[in-house]
Amino acid sequence: MNIEIKKSYDELSRFAALEIKKLIDEKPNCVLGLATGSTPIGLYKELVKLHKEGEIDFSKITTFNLDEYRGLDGDHNQSYRYFMDDNLFNHINIDKNNTFVPNGVAQDVDDECKKYEELMEEKGGVDIQVLGIGVNGHIGFNEPNKHLYMDTHIEDLTDETISSNLRFFSSREEMPTQAITMGIGSIMKAKRIILLISGKNKADIVAKLFSGKITTELPASILQIHNNCTVVLDEEAASLLNK
Ligand code: F6R
Repeated sequence: MNIEIKKSYDELSRFAALEIKKLIDEKPNCVLGLATGSTPIGLYKELVKLHKEGEIDFSKITTFNLDEYRGLDGDHNQSYRYFMDDNLFNHINIDKNNTFVPNGVAQDVDDECKKYEELMEEKGGVDIQVLGIGVNGHIGFNEPNKHLYMDTHIEDLTDETISSNLRFFSSREEMPTQAITMGIGSIMKAKRIILLISGKNKADIVAKLFSGKITTELPASILQIHNNCTVVLDEEAASLLNK
């Protein structure tokens, strides 16, 4: 894994946006793998800014999101489809028909997962996958467990993830307990991965991530064997790493 430590969240976001711009300059019809959550919001702001300045044309871009809550449809203001429209897609010249987020209310979940996986293949695979990390080490919604799944699948959210994401919902009853998520195999197939980690509350998991072990109890640890993965940290997230 390549490590980039940036002074601030803004610098981290700018760095990631410029890496994506570089890819789009080289390959205007590339496929981006995208994440939601608090971490990539700054990246999306930078991408919108670069687009408004005439620096990025998204017209030929295809995107695949990592995950979606089970039970929320795209109109729900906490769904990841809504998040992506609100934070990025509504502000750039992307064709929304080329933006894919798992369907959280699909009747046949297994079929939805299978089709999502097939569609990624059909579009040529993901060129850059943007990731965040959960405080428990999850990537996508691949939660710590005895085993991890290869492909897109349905996952039960752990209590830790539910507590951590509860901040976006008005009550625990409203918070979904399952999600459809790309699997570890789907993520590892990306040609390049950029893992963004910001803030003091991620410093512990960052220290564990760089302890040199790979374990399904820390799903992000598998990224250590990806041949083109960049971890971008701000100073707070990197604060418990040995210099
Ligand atoms: C979101 C996702 C999650 C988040 C992670 C960190 O699509 O797949 O793995 O990246 O939970 O979330 P934040 O950035 O809110 O700390």
